[in-house]
Amino acid sequence: MAGALAPGGEGWSSRTAFVLAAIGSAVGLGNLVRFPAEAGANGGGAFVIFYIFCVLLIGLPILLSETLIGRHGQGSAIESMKKVAIESRASSWWSLAAGVGMVGAFLILTYYSVLAGWIVHFIGIFAGDVAHAFASGGLAQGALQDLSVDQVQGLLPALQANSSEMLAMHAIFMALTIFFVGRGVSSGIEKVAVWLMPIFFILLIAITIYGAFTGSFGAALAFLFDFEPARLLDPSVQLSALGQALFSLSLGSALMITYGAYAARDINLAKTSVQIATADTSVAIIAGLAIFPITFAALAPASLTAILDGQEQVQGGLGLLFVNLPVAFQTMPAGSLIGLLFFIMVFFAALTSSVALLEASVSWAIGRFKQPRWLVTILLGGLAFLIGAWASFSFNSQADFQPFDFMIFSGQPVFGIIDELTAKILLPTSALLVAIFVGWIADRRLIDSENGLDGKLHRIWLFLVRWLCPLVISAILLTGLFPGLLGQG
Ligand code: PHE
Repeated sequence: MAGALAPGGEGWSSRTAFVLAAIGSAVGLGNLVRFPAEAGANGGGAFVIFYIFCVLLIGLPILLSETLIGRHGQGSAIESMKKVAIESRASSWWSLAAGVGMVGAFLILTYYSVLAGWIVHFIGIFAGDVAHAFASGGLAQGALQDLSVDQVQGLLPALQANSSEMLAMHAIFMALTIFFVGRGVSSGIEKVAVWLMPIFFILLIAITIYGAFTGSFGAALAFLFDFEPARLLDPSVQLSALGQALFSLSLGSALMITYGAYAARDINLAKTSVQIATADTSVAIIAGLAIFPITFAALAPASLTAILDGQEQVQGGLGLLFVNLPVAFQTMPAGSLIGLLFFIMVFFAALTSSVALLEASVSWAIGRFKQPRWLVTILLGGLAFLIGAWASFSFNSQADFQPFDFMIFSGQPVFGIIDELTAKILLPTSALLVAIFVGWIADRRLIDSENGLDGKLHRIWLFLVRWLCPLVISAILLTGLFPGLLGQG
């Protein structure tokens, strides 16, 4: 069955291609790096529970709203929103919602590619180690046997201090992203997803089973699902969970509108939304169940107990993946091979997301400036590369380069600031506007005829986009950004 004909006559070649591409965009560093890091930093269980709440009651209805706008509008995210607004006799300024999201996606791409470059670097390290292990006594032993624990812990800081290596890896990854986006929707973006996502799922399951047998699975379960009820009410935990849910489902970033525009008319968007959200959330949780057992296995029993009792934090942020995990692989059976497969798996997930992040603005620029896809892709990808390169220097001079020392940004390098700005401000703002637009502004007939829902489910969806999404997102945005509002500043 032929795909839709939007923008520039492009479209997915089948329903499966659409679902895989959307899942590919959703599943990424957000699930494999950001989710475990945020769960670690926000005390595990409470964060996870609130995250699942956000996915079901906010993410899912907005996912349907966004794909719906795109499919009806048949253009870039901004064009599609404008079209739906005009047909609903509303102001075309509503397209600003997509504009905010598109800027968010572009900004995410800038640091996403730097991070993915680190993954490429670690693939190199583990590939070399596999070759080395082969030559000397087989693969059964742990990884990186020639390095001390200190040296393994030093791999990430060494990379961060080596700007030219970081830039080279960032360049390789961005070039790959540009290559596939430049080839277009059905011959580039879709191909990446259709080939890489199945391999990704096989690797994820294999590594999780490995972790369950060789690592501290029980401790990981306790960490991810036990929680203090009081923390559920902590506004900063809530804002982190909401930001993570939107980030992970690629919502509030113009992306699902963009991908929806390439979807054929006869696809039931309610069904595909459920499939996308289920796949993405399962991957986040399964990834937690792969990463934490392995990292916990390498911790001293005392510090593991302290973490589970909530007295000590799991190494948050990027350390989990690039420091704790390699140390764990050092002592685990077949550590080099599993380490290599692990980083390849993360790389696949990152690439199917980075093409999406770039496509959000490329599809707009093609229509806006009437220029060929290749040219637009190279220019926008190049610009994202430059901004990312600039941000990556903040790792070298963290102490004296902090121009944004306020609110949730204080004490962060440029990198963390772009991340917080997008996940905790831009994406929620865009998602909020989309919910208000679909719930209250857009022509009901137009929306209702396309959403693939009937009866009770339709009423539930409408209630969620009209009331729950706007109220909860604005409340979380306000209290999370200005903790003083609740007298907790
Ligand atoms: N959802 C992706 C991830 O989890 C990131 C992303 C955000 C991709 C927005 C596209 C648009 O890594």
